[in-house]
Amino acid sequence: MEKKADIGLIGLAVMGENLVLNMESKGFSVAVFNRSTNKVDSFVNGRGKGKNIIGTRSLEELVGSLKSPRKVMLMVKAGKPVDDFIELLIPHLDKGDIIIDGGNTHFPDTNRRTAYLESKGLLYIGTGVSGGEEGALLGPSIMPGGSKTAWPFVKDIFQSIAAKVDDGTPCCDWVGENGAGHFVKMVHNGIEYGDMQLICEAYQVMNDLLEMSADEMHEVFKEWNKGELDSYLIEITRDILGFKDDDGKPMVDKILDTAGQKGTGKWTGVTALDLGVPLTLIGESVFSRCLSAQKDERVVASKILTGPKPSFTGDKKQMIEDLRKALLASKIVSYAQGYVLMRAAAEEFGWHLNNGGIALMWRGGCIIRSVFLGKIKEAFDKNPELNNLLLDDYFKAKIMDADASWRRVVAAATVNGIPVPALSSALSYFDGYRCKRLPANLLQAQRDYFGAHTYERIDKPRGEFFHTNWTGRGGTTASTTYNV
Ligand code: 6PG
Repeated sequence: MEKKADIGLIGLAVMGENLVLNMESKGFSVAVFNRSTNKVDSFVNGRGKGKNIIGTRSLEELVGSLKSPRKVMLMVKAGKPVDDFIELLIPHLDKGDIIIDGGNTHFPDTNRRTAYLESKGLLYIGTGVSGGEEGALLGPSIMPGGSKTAWPFVKDIFQSIAAKVDDGTPCCDWVGENGAGHFVKMVHNGIEYGDMQLICEAYQVMNDLLEMSADEMHEVFKEWNKGELDSYLIEITRDILGFKDDDGKPMVDKILDTAGQKGTGKWTGVTALDLGVPLTLIGESVFSRCLSAQKDERVVASKILTGPKPSFTGDKKQMIEDLRKALLASKIVSYAQGYVLMRAAAEEFGWHLNNGGIALMWRGGCIIRSVFLGKIKEAFDKNPELNNLLLDDYFKAKIMDADASWRRVVAAATVNGIPVPALSSALSYFDGYRCKRLPANLLQAQRDYFGAHTYERIDKPRGEFFHTNWTGRGGTTASTTYNV
């Protein structure tokens, strides 16, 4: 009898190909299919040559070459192509077979698809896969969610190919029901946007205010990567700053300052708005990319609107250390906000998210991997119900230690006209979060003044609403008190 494969994979683009090679290297046999079948041939006869990989030329052939229950992983473009392949696969599958979507899918689609496939007796997994090309080949971070009964059938494959932390624990575990895996991957990407924006702001302060060369900055990032900021994104920034173009000049200086985005950061921000969670740092990071994309308009505005000319007279070494601490403190705020969003989503969608487990999944393999995530894992191990990371002793101490530096950086950038939206919004969130009385009393008065929207009083129990006839002209009828 012909030997059957452990798993099938559809979509031989960069991530798909590398995942197949990773699975095969861990002892799993993989059947592959691609819409343009010449890609199957070139892969099987190229990077896949001599390996335990079966090339197939139709979905029927792919499904027919799999062990039962069949596991078919889609590594195709998120959106319609996933729905299309699901429809094409269904007629070939039997009850209990599993479809896996490993793309950057928007989690509501995964919620919908899980329910749809379960209604047909099939199982569905929507999984985040992070780490880019190299991660896919050597060990990505994998965040699966969906039909829980499917997990035991894919666990061994996923955990074998995933990155491992120092003690060998895989950066992959079951995340939760229906779209939970893709939700957690979306938040990962939002945090990725935040980390990148923070690094870029530190870079701009070093460049514009401290007038440092790319080589000098390269040295700073090299140092930063040895300490508590040790992370993949700091490491690649170090390397980017040291990279020279053919003429020996820094490559980074030649790149147009307009950021692209594929949408996962925006989804994170929109979800936060939907759930009423102040996810300010990621929001600012998405908007910063949008502002950067308005290049032509900025060039025109730069000739019309003037501001201070950056000039620095203080202790440069101290400022660099201030920047390091400001970056760390802001990063703590960003992750704190991301975790608050995950908690709100878990409540809204009935997921049982394991906060420490998520930190462990992100600890290695993915784009935001860092030493820092080990500390988050420790914080949630100590207190799984922790409301906000800022309240954990370790992070509180780090923020307290960074406080003066953080304020000096935001102040210096502001005085010198250098935009630092992520660093400064993080500081504002911190100041707002620790503020016992915010000016929302006045805001409530304004709402009541113009729209009779009512307010609660500090000298009355919560839940009792009052309306004042502020002008003497209004009536006593209050509007309803619903809140979104
Ligand atoms: C990862 C990344 C990846 C993401 C890219 C591009 O975890 O490997 O998050 O999934 O798609 O980083 O994202 P943007 O184009 O939106 O920057």
